[in-house]
Order: sequence, then structure tokens, then C-alpha cells
Amino acid sequence: MEKTVITALDMRGEEALLFLDRFREEKPYVKIGMQLFYSEGPDIVREIKKRGHRVFLDLKLHDIPNTVGKAAEALAKLDIDMCSIHAAGGREMMEAAMGGFSSGPFGMPKVIAVTQLTSTGMRMLKEDLLINASMEDTVIHYAIAAKNAGLSGVVCSVWEAERIHRECGTDFLTVSPGIRFYDTKADDQKRVSSPIDAGKAGADHIVVGRAVTKAEDPVKAYKRCIEEFEKGQRMKIRKGDE
Ligand code: C5P
Repeated sequence: MEKTVITALDMRGEEALLFLDRFREEKPYVKIGMQLFYSEGPDIVREIKKRGHRVFLDLKLHDIPNTVGKAAEALAKLDIDMCSIHAAGGREMMEAAMGGFSSGPFGMPKVIAVTQLTSTGMRMLKEDLLINASMEDTVIHYAIAAKNAGLSGVVCSVWEAERIHRECGTDFLTVSPGIRFYDTKADDQKRVSSPIDAGKAGADHIVVGRAVTKAEDPVKAYKRCIEEFEKGQRMKIRKGDE
């Protein structure tokens, strides 16, 4: 399975297009999240697709099944490669989303579920959400539920990717945000890891935002990210050969 670095375009429309103009040789796979989609609407997806990029539409749908199903149906009119919903919405909601996304003219996008946000730490899990299970057990539980509902994979931190593959199979996609180079700051993310560690852990795709978009030279940072992610993957393969 192809493993990719997905660049999070957490910025305004004009800024996003100027950012993509900087890439001459590469066509990064990009993530369009709430900020960009809510400010620019579906046209930004059409424009970015027209420029030849693959698009992960990360709107994290979470509502009653009927509403999510209808929202997915509306989004299926766009040519998107991957999209996200919240596993916390439950099995019926996830199945309704799958029904909606399958109705479009472009074929089924990969639908992945958010397990626990990578900005959630143990204190928040216990005190704010009143969840007493460990972070890892919570994430695995949501991943199994997503697989049973027919989804293609989950969003999870790098630290959970290996166990999810063990429990749900290696074909079940793990998409991991919270990526930082070891020499940059974590910002608001609690469960961060480097591209090398992500590669070693077997994460399928890594989502990288500020480590690339806020870098002095974003193209250089993007290339570094790919190199380090691939290096980690090679280290994992060598370890597996032993
Ligand atoms: O800038 P940074 O690399 O922290 O951005 C991470 C991106 O991944 C953001 O767009 C955020 O919405 C997204 N994300 C996340 N944690 C999740 C799911 C998505 O950080 N569990």
C-alpha cells in the first residue's frame, strides 16, 4: 500500500493556493479542513483537484445518522479522495455516512474515522470526557467499531498505529497527525511524533500541518518529511527481516 505525507492546508483560500504554487516538482496530497472549507466552500476543493492534487476532506462529521448521511451525500458530489467522520457518532452514524459517500459520481472515497484527537491527553480523557479506559484501549475500541461499520481506516496517533494494524489488519488505514520534526515545537498537540518514528511504527499516511506550512522553506520541510518518513519505513522493514 502506498504511504504518503498529507499536507494540512489550515489557512485561508488565497494563502492555500499561493502555498501550493511554491511546489514545482511535487503535487502534495493535501488536507482541506474546516477552516479552509468553511471559508471558501466547495470551490476550493474543485480548484485544488483541478491543479492535480489528491484531497483529504477533513470535516470530521458527527451528528445524528440521518443528518450525517445527507451531509455525506452532498459532499459526495465533490471529487474527493478521502474524508473523515467521528467514530464517537456510533455504528449507525458511520453506516449512514458510508451510504451517503457511496452515492456520488466519482466513486467511493476512503472514509476514515477520528478516534481520539491528538490534542487530547489523559487528563482530558478522564476529567473532561469521563472516560476511564486508557487512551490506547479507547482508540482501539473506536478503530474496531469503524472497521465493523465498513470504513477504510482511522485517524490515530503514531503510537497507536502498530496495534491498530495488529487488531484490524494491515489493510486498515492508519492516518496519523501530530507530526513534528524532533527539532521543532509541539504547539497544541499532546501526542506528537517525528516522521521517522511514524515510518517505523508503520503509519500509512502522516498528516503534517505547521511543521511544513510554517517552516521558513515549506518545500524543503515537505521534502525532509518525505525522506524521514521513508527512512523510518526502511528501518521497520529491516527490523522485520531480522
Ligand atoms: O499543524 P499540525 O501538524 O498540528 O496539524 C495537524 C492537522 O491534523 C490539523 O489540521 C488537525 O485538524 C488535524 N488532526 C489532528 N488530530 C486528529 C485529527 C486531525 O491534529 N486526531
